[in-house]
Amino acid sequence: MRVLGIETSCDECAAAIVEDGRHIRANVVATQMDLHARYGGVVPEVASRAHLRTVIPVIQTALEQAGLGMDGIDAVAATYGPGLAGALLVGLNAAKAFAYARDLPFIGVNHLEGHIYANWLRQDGQPAEDPELPALCLVVSGGHTDLILMETHGDYRRLGRTRDDAAGEAFDKVARLLGLGYPGGPVIERIAAGAPRGDVRLPRAWLPGTADFSFSGLKTAVLHMTRDLDRPGDAQIAGAFQDSVVDVLAEKTARAAREHGVRQVLLAGGVAANGALRAEVIKRSPVPVRYPPPQLCTDNAAMIAGCAFFHLDRGERGDVSLDVQPNLRFV
Ligand code: KG4
Ligand code: ZN
Repeated sequence: MRVLGIETSCDECAAAIVEDGRHIRANVVATQMDLHARYGGVVPEVASRAHLRTVIPVIQTALEQAGLGMDGIDAVAATYGPGLAGALLVGLNAAKAFAYARDLPFIGVNHLEGHIYANWLRQDGQPAEDPELPALCLVVSGGHTDLILMETHGDYRRLGRTRDDAAGEAFDKVARLLGLGYPGGPVIERIAAGAPRGDVRLPRAWLPGTADFSFSGLKTAVLHMTRDLDRPGDAQIAGAFQDSVVDVLAEKTARAAREHGVRQVLLAGGVAANGALRAEVIKRSPVPVRYPPPQLCTDNAAMIAGCAFFHLDRGERGDVSLDVQPNLRFV
């Protein structure tokens, strides 16, 4: 079954065609990063207007890439939340119109569940088998930091989440404090790599007895450090910041994996592109760890199309009257 997926929850306008939830036939991502970079973050109105201009060409490009006409599509899916209301509206309405016009099943996908399903996509260098369930999913993005127990398809339990900033948000805010630009994750990872740490160390919020996270104190600690008269270099600060985030994420993930007897750990979301995080989770996890290639960790529509397949496979047919839910919860 070939699913056309559309994703416009934030600043990426993306369309993809995925077969049977695993095989990518086309994957197109039009990033608006340059439009938002000068503001140091995503400007919602700028995002929705840009989506309006690009959504149809992006869908057309995906069909061309797959060598398919519209009649080669068996179902349509789009992200309906969480995300920016105006941005979500553009992709969701384009998808609903497509499904309605062709009389196809339409599935609304929760963006966070979509991130998890990036682990089912088969790319070069990825395992040829599906992930094994039950799995512990660490979903780390610009808006969320959740530890989720996935018993089976569609059956989730949230074990922990951030109480304040999301991990990706912390990377973005610290990059801004250091004048490194937006988005912060990739640039912090780059300058932290190989930077001497010396005795520069930043705090960790362990929140004992819970699987929750907190990153706002760490961000404040970075702010104070940047104001020190004898402040360490940017690379050292970035390194100490990344060490702190990675230490807490990896430790709490490994602990929860042990406690819940899962068969695998799955990493998902933009921050899962971080090599230091991946390496540390692998080092500490009692079970095998899987993660998508970097371009499928950050926002894309292949994960949305892939996720929708598993909904369809369970007999869901969706409903084109679905509306956007900017504050949609996952579990
Ligand atoms: O999943 P995503 O593309 O969008 C949301 O759903 O939020 O995640 C974006 C976040 C940004 O905060 C970005 O700084 C972070 O993922 N990110 C990274 C890396 N690449 C992207 N964080 C750390 N290391 C990276 N290599
Ligand atoms: Zn995302």
